[in-house]
Amino acid sequence: MPATPISSKGITVTAGRPDLVPPKWRREIQSVLIPADKIARRVRQLAQLIKKDYKNSDLVIISLLNGTVLFLADLIRHLDIPVKLDFMGVTSYRTNTLPGKPLVTKQPQLELSNREVLLIDDILDTGKTLNFALGVIHAYHPRSVKTCVLLDKPSRRVVPITADYVGFRIPNHFVVGYGLDYAERYRNLPFIGVLKPEVYATTPIL
Ligand code: XMP
Repeated sequence: MPATPISSKGITVTAGRPDLVPPKWRREIQSVLIPADKIARRVRQLAQLIKKDYKNSDLVIISLLNGTVLFLADLIRHLDIPVKLDFMGVTSYRTNTLPGKPLVTKQPQLELSNREVLLIDDILDTGKTLNFALGVIHAYHPRSVKTCVLLDKPSRRVVPITADYVGFRIPNHFVVGYGLDYAERYRNLPFIGVLKPEVYATTPIL
């Protein structure tokens, strides 16, 4: 029987597992939405899809800081094709969990004109950040631009945008871990967890 093709559109995750939260995180994390082993499997699959699509090109990866660092590090070690790597800084979360207007804090440094670009972000939520970052990249006149996000919260979309490669489609929870933060904390969690609402209700963002 032929193997089922890997989908680029994301694995749907519906419910978190409170029982999987390590005891030392139970005061702050409500449930584990995506455990580390499931993340690792899916990241390998995304790398396979990307490798296949870019096997004959000289790919430039632009990764949005800071939430993508763990995802990016895991993804690129499975990409055994020539890639160049650069970073772009965009801030959008300026007050609590409510997005503000996106601003560029770091421009890419590599030559992007006439290049194949893959833009990576941690999570596609309202779509404002990715849409804004795409606008910035397009101004460099690349040959092509595709997008890859680890997480997608389709129910929150304000800007009609979809990513070309999606790890997981998740419900509308504020999630942390595996690079994602609240007030710069929790990036080091090896899993994606749902943050307890009382944490963001009572802890001021930096
Ligand atoms: P937008 O709404 O512009 O958001 O698509 C994208 C950026 O917002 C951040 N974001 C989150 N960060 N948990 C986080 O830690 C979340 O649930 C979440 N939702 C959005 C993130 O920085 C992303 O790049």
